[in-house]
Amino acid sequence: MKTAVRGDVLTFRGNPFREAEQDSLAFQRDALVVMENGRIAACGPAAKLLPTLTPDVRLTHYPEHLILPGFIDCHVHYPQTEMMAAFGEQLLDWLHHYTFVTEQGFADEVHAREVAQVFLSEQLRNGVTTGCVFGTVHSASVEMLLQEAARIDLRILAGKVCMDRHAPDALLDTPLTAYEDSRALIQRWHGRGRAEYVITPRFAPTSSHGQLEMLGALAAEFPDVPIQSHISENLDEIAWVKALFPGCRDYASVYQRYGLLRPRAVYGHGIHLSDAELEMFHASGASLAHCPTSNFFLGSGSLDLRRCVLGDRPVAVGLGTDLGAGTSFSMLQTMNAAYMAAQSHGKPLSAAQAFYLATRGGAEALGIADKVGSVAVGMEADLAVLNLRSTPLLDFRMRYARDLSEALFVQMMLGDDRAVAATYVAGREVYRRAA
Ligand code: GUN
Ligand code: ZN
Repeated sequence: MKTAVRGDVLTFRGNPFREAEQDSLAFQRDALVVMENGRIAACGPAAKLLPTLTPDVRLTHYPEHLILPGFIDCHVHYPQTEMMAAFGEQLLDWLHHYTFVTEQGFADEVHAREVAQVFLSEQLRNGVTTGCVFGTVHSASVEMLLQEAARIDLRILAGKVCMDRHAPDALLDTPLTAYEDSRALIQRWHGRGRAEYVITPRFAPTSSHGQLEMLGALAAEFPDVPIQSHISENLDEIAWVKALFPGCRDYASVYQRYGLLRPRAVYGHGIHLSDAELEMFHASGASLAHCPTSNFFLGSGSLDLRRCVLGDRPVAVGLGTDLGAGTSFSMLQTMNAAYMAAQSHGKPLSAAQAFYLATRGGAEALGIADKVGSVAVGMEADLAVLNLRSTPLLDFRMRYARDLSEALFVQMMLGDDRAVAATYVAGREVYRRAA
């Protein structure tokens, strides 16, 4: 089936942190994106391409909208959807009082599937077409999520959480079962359709040395399989890691010691990383997921983004909602928080930089920029269509937007799920906002 969308298209051909905006950002007014067999078959001026369309193409015109690559959420916990907005704690207490209680419910597959459905439909309502997702310790939690994602042909990355200590017994695996269950899921799901499996130690404090060793062995066995975890989110967490791994110089050294720092290893947060640790990320090719709504919500601190992405030892960084510590499925709202985080370090984030992080930058961080994150011929056809006048306030405010940069900035500061008019996955419209 062929589909086409017509409207203004925004994508990135370079990195706006390292190149001038006019060189990295590509904006085409009144363009046509033609999608066929799940990919972008053509993209160019509507006036030129419209006459080439055959009558079987389903064409949708989006005047006064912006067509973007689908958003990419580099770090999110789907089982925590039901415990978003849990009051009053910082990371370690929050995990014990809320997270570890909620995650026990995922022993029930029916419950897991239901939450997976809610989670994926919220992502689509927000124009998110790829997530790098944590399940719970239960293999079935990932099985349910990946089954539901496959029904809509989503490009998704997900893994079963591995943890064998410092959590309730009902949530613990062992070094061996973590290895075996993760391995079985890799064989069943990695590269099946658009799914990828992600080796997922929760974070260093909840895995024993033996478990990290087994997961390092698994990672070595499957060098192209991504890895996800957490690092350096909270000061008490960092002190705990120091006490648990006295032989390691710092937090990043723990993951490095077990072979878990490498390309396509994506670590949430990294707020308090030292220069030496950032250097290890750079040298190993590992990346960071910046999760600003979560960092503000848990009082963890705020990432100095420019310190990570600039300089001569840059680290690839994507954006993560980190639900349920994160407070919104909306990548626009997450960009809003990223702006606030950058401001708290005295360095604003431009709209181009924020939209890059939420699209192509995220794809780079996950190692999938050859597949998604850009609107270009040959890329997989995942798109988000934004209505630039989605609320009465935005309708009014946009009258005074003088240029594209200002229009984009207004969207990321004032927009949310209501701005997403439609979402396309593999060339198919999977969500359309009611008029
Ligand atoms: N560190 C270890 N587990 C988690 C989690 O579920 N959420 C967040 N924000 N940090 C973590
Ligand atoms: Zn997280």
